[in-house]
Amino acid sequence: MAGYVGKAITRVDGRAKVTGAAAYTADTQLPGLCHAVLVTSDRAGGRLTGLETQAAEQAPGVLAVLTYRNARPGGVATLTNALGKFFARAVMPGDAFLVLADDQVRYAGQPIAVVVAETLEKARWAASLVEVRLAGGDVEVELAKHLDEQFSPGKVQDEPADSGRGEVEAALRAAAHKVDVVYTTAAQAHNPMEPHATIAAFDGAKLTLYDATQYVYGVKQVLSAQLGKLPGSVRVISRFVGGAFGSKGLAWPHVPVTAMAAQHVGRPVKLVVERRHMFGFIGFRPETRQHLQLGAAKDGKLVAIAHHGVSQTSRIGEWTEPVGKSTGMLYSCPNVAVTHRLVRLDTQTPTFQRAPGEAPGSLALECALDELAYAAGIDPLELRLTNYASRDEGKDLPFSSKALRACYVQGAERFGWDKRPKSVGQWRVGHRLVGWGMATATYPAMRSGATARVRLQADGSALVQIATHDLGTGTYTILTQMAADALGLPMGRVRTEIGDTDYPYAPVAGGSQSAASCSIPVHEAGHAVRRQLIALAIKDPASPLHGLPADQVDAAEGHLTARGDATRTDTHEAVLARAGRKELEAEHETKPDDVDKRFSCHAWGAQFAEVQVDPDLGMVRVTRMVGAFAGGRVLNLTTARSQLMGGMVMGIGAALLEEVVRDPLQGRVLNGSLEGYMVPVNADVPEIEVIFVAEADEHVNPLGIKGLGELGIVGAGAAIANAVFHATGKRMRDFPLTVDKLL
Ligand code: MOS
Repeated sequence: MAGYVGKAITRVDGRAKVTGAAAYTADTQLPGLCHAVLVTSDRAGGRLTGLETQAAEQAPGVLAVLTYRNARPGGVATLTNALGKFFARAVMPGDAFLVLADDQVRYAGQPIAVVVAETLEKARWAASLVEVRLAGGDVEVELAKHLDEQFSPGKVQDEPADSGRGEVEAALRAAAHKVDVVYTTAAQAHNPMEPHATIAAFDGAKLTLYDATQYVYGVKQVLSAQLGKLPGSVRVISRFVGGAFGSKGLAWPHVPVTAMAAQHVGRPVKLVVERRHMFGFIGFRPETRQHLQLGAAKDGKLVAIAHHGVSQTSRIGEWTEPVGKSTGMLYSCPNVAVTHRLVRLDTQTPTFQRAPGEAPGSLALECALDELAYAAGIDPLELRLTNYASRDEGKDLPFSSKALRACYVQGAERFGWDKRPKSVGQWRVGHRLVGWGMATATYPAMRSGATARVRLQADGSALVQIATHDLGTGTYTILTQMAADALGLPMGRVRTEIGDTDYPYAPVAGGSQSAASCSIPVHEAGHAVRRQLIALAIKDPASPLHGLPADQVDAAEGHLTARGDATRTDTHEAVLARAGRKELEAEHETKPDDVDKRFSCHAWGAQFAEVQVDPDLGMVRVTRMVGAFAGGRVLNLTTARSQLMGGMVMGIGAALLEEVVRDPLQGRVLNGSLEGYMVPVNADVPEIEVIFVAEADEHVNPLGIKGLGELGIVGAGAAIANAVFHATGKRMRDFPLTVDKLL
């Protein structure tokens, strides 16, 4: 595919973003807009024994105070009439949450009341006047203390919670080298730069919702159900999203609450979620405990893998962190057992966070493999190559493509892995201990159905419309490239519009599926328009292309040209003008095929990290990272690099910094701010190199795209943790690896 696709191209929305012209949800201005502020519980597991709203109601500028008492059917009747109490339950995949439903408080940070006022300041002041009294006993928020309450979720993301093959126990008994270890990973909060925000505006029965979301059609579905009206009466708009990482994949309680408030006061209402509240009623990555048992023969060949994962969920919903999702696939091994279990705790329901499953799963599996490598006296990279899987032994399917070996080789070469000292805890630069570690990355290549509309206009410019999202990922740019190539236009003449349910359907911008799901329909619709244009030209006696067969006409940079004869050329706008056409338009809908029944489809990578550890202070510094990735066709080298690098940076957070800390008595988050919850900042992030490993995949989908959104985080933390072991000789199994654990 000559043209723009595959090149390094800066973001088409970059200028708008750096100049502030890009309007995020909270930037939206509407006439008569008023402001909502939430009052939330400061403890879990209790009951409201008092809720005084009178002072707030009487405060200056206050338009309404809504609680479970007046937000229920009858209180906000038209919002709830059709489905009754359904308003209290927003449906999410396999889950439910409660919105101002009753006097029960299930988790700390649960919305209890919403105050609506003329200004944000007045709403805030009034919210501070709401008096909440809560009675409750002990709560359970510590996974380690309730492991005996674990249960099977039955299914995890439509797959059985338990899977495997062979005879693991017998194989473990007979193994020459064994590792039997427990890893834990902390609960994490997504913390995108842009907080969640919703603006709800009614025009009669029609609700327009501006929402910071990864899935406008999903929000529309939830709100439509809650409103008890047909989906046609809700429009959801989300033009720019400032990061999400899974946290904006679902409609959390503030969304219906804002709609309810707007309905109640008869004016548009804006609710911007406060950072501290993003640790409350927004889902999070759950804490996990993972028991790994590995067995290998003398030569390092794996004979058994057991991966038993337990993660936390809530009392009101079920979310399972699928930590063992890739375990049965990643290495060749005859005997494998994977289980997933849940423990209910008094928290909000967890949710997906960047590479759910693979990210925390790889922290355990890839570190345990490192332990096996040391136990067997085999280089960690050599161990991976020894156990390289040439087909998916879990699903018993061939891979659609797998350039992982090339990732190992190219990453290792770039990093200089062959110069790695074998000894542990010995290598110093000055006072500091130095270590190197590596790990494997993988993430499934997925795709969902989507529809794109492409319109060529009289002036020779084009418009692309599809209801997908750009989470900072580069979607605007790659779809513009794709359409420009399909139509034969300069990129500057293509405008891409996304994030609006007035546009054709696109799936949730999650699961690393947007590039594949949305590029293909844009490509197809663009080519359909190109065919229409060429048909007009060749039947037009006034066109220099008249009479040519359609397949002898090329389109590029705004021109149609006879193949092999550059003198016979026409322009897009001239063809339209002579034909008297204002525009040419096409829509293309894709449906995913059955490729996943015939092939196992994954993206791959090899992660390498160097750390320096201060032996007195226990400070770990990541000094170098190299990631080599194979993700099928890469659409834009610039935005793809940023995606992968961003994932690797999050790997630093998972390994060393990120941890939601809860008060064990009342369940409240103690570090619910960017001051208390550590994410990697510039000073924590070293030189990061991203290597793109060529990988042509003719099976995964028509354009060979696999997706890169999540791949970069997988294995990155494990490579760092393995480097910490190499530096210090101390194997730490409780993430994050903070100073207190190292000393
Ligand atoms: Mo992602 S966790 O699928 O946004």
